[in-house]
Amino acid sequence: MALNIDELRERARRKLPTAVFDFIDGAAEDEVTLRRNREAFGRYALVPRVGIDVSAIDVAVTMLGQPLSVPLLLAPTGLCGMATSRGEIPAARAATEAGILCAVSCLSSVTLEEVSREAPGQHWFQLYVWKDRAVTQALVERATQHGYRVLVVTLDVPVLGQRERDVRNGATIPPRITLRNALDTLRRPGWLWKIARGPRVTFANVAAADPSVGLNPFALSPFINSLFDPTVTWKDLEWMRRIWKGPVAVKGVMTVEDARLAVEHGADAVIVSNHGGRQLDGAAGALDPLPEIVDAVGSRTEIILDGGIRRGTDMAKALALGARACMIGRPYLYGLGAAGQAGVADAIRILTSELRRAMALMGCKRIGDLGRSCLRPA
Ligand SMILES: Cc1cc2nc3c(=O)[nH]c(=O)nc-3n(C[C@H](O)[C@H](O)[C@H](O)COP(=O)(O)O)c2cc1C
Repeated sequence: MALNIDELRERARRKLPTAVFDFIDGAAEDEVTLRRNREAFGRYALVPRVGIDVSAIDVAVTMLGQPLSVPLLLAPTGLCGMATSRGEIPAARAATEAGILCAVSCLSSVTLEEVSREAPGQHWFQLYVWKDRAVTQALVERATQHGYRVLVVTLDVPVLGQRERDVRNGATIPPRITLRNALDTLRRPGWLWKIARGPRVTFANVAAADPSVGLNPFALSPFINSLFDPTVTWKDLEWMRRIWKGPVAVKGVMTVEDARLAVEHGADAVIVSNHGGRQLDGAAGALDPLPEIVDAVGSRTEIILDGGIRRGTDMAKALALGARACMIGRPYLYGLGAAGQAGVADAIRILTSELRRAMALMGCKRIGDLGRSCLRPA
């Protein structure tokens, strides 16, 4: 078992080929926003309190009516099958076993039907609005049929951010062994064995609609760019709202203006996020706009903070600023790459125990006790 998320990351780095590790770990351009996601937490100090009976700490909450054993969700991440074969399934199983929720990406490496069948739970489904609205609508219908509870609409990818590590590594789907990366890949026989025995890594939901997808290896970024629609507007959110009967969460909001628009166009939850620094490099850290967004729309919607969480103390800060829950992307992908389902469970366990310990040291017995008085400028 790893001691902390950084240790899980190191284990993943050793187990995964460089191109796969970089696909997970990397971000857009100079990765300034990736670093800012971490730095933003450093601007707050936590306030210790003493003389309070903290023998019973309760970290359970509800999110859009669903119970969570701890205010944590697994963020939607495409192609978990790069980290380990059919990776969405062990990730979703670990979430359910821990009593938390996971949002399954529409760009998953197994179909949304396979996840709901092989890892049953109260999962959410994340959607990009694709150029082909008929395919988009069909995905919504499939997610409805298979019992997904909440639709997460990600709006911060009208075009794909340039992840320079992927370009430099010549990342393809499925990953290919080339002269350049052969030695590096062969040094990770555990990964190679799992991937070689499993099904071909591809965008399974897209391939289900168009069987020509995945027949030949293709470059990652141009393919994704060809799917996404740069004309998407708030009108499309209204359309989503009409065709999806359950709650809708809008992901990728970084300003008060957009948070208000999301609520006006029917969002039940707002996910404050810069896509883990993978989209607009130079944007602020995800935590930075959180307090003003909470002040503006927090009474009308539930707010999730997504990006840069690596410690339970980071979660404590986001929750104290008014987030109802936090999402993690890379921390559980490191776990998946390091040790499959057990690694994801480890990531969840680490963050949960760190949060509980921080709350005890802050004299907070319940999540509701975390508020702005628990923070000072660092
Ligand atoms: C490898 C990878 C793939 C991702 N794929 C998606 C995706 O398909 N849909 C989406 O909305 N966000 C995607 N994201 C962004 C995550 O949902 C989340 O916003 C981000 O990872 C949060 O930052 P963190 O990694 O610091 O926790 C992806 C992130 C990573 C690292």
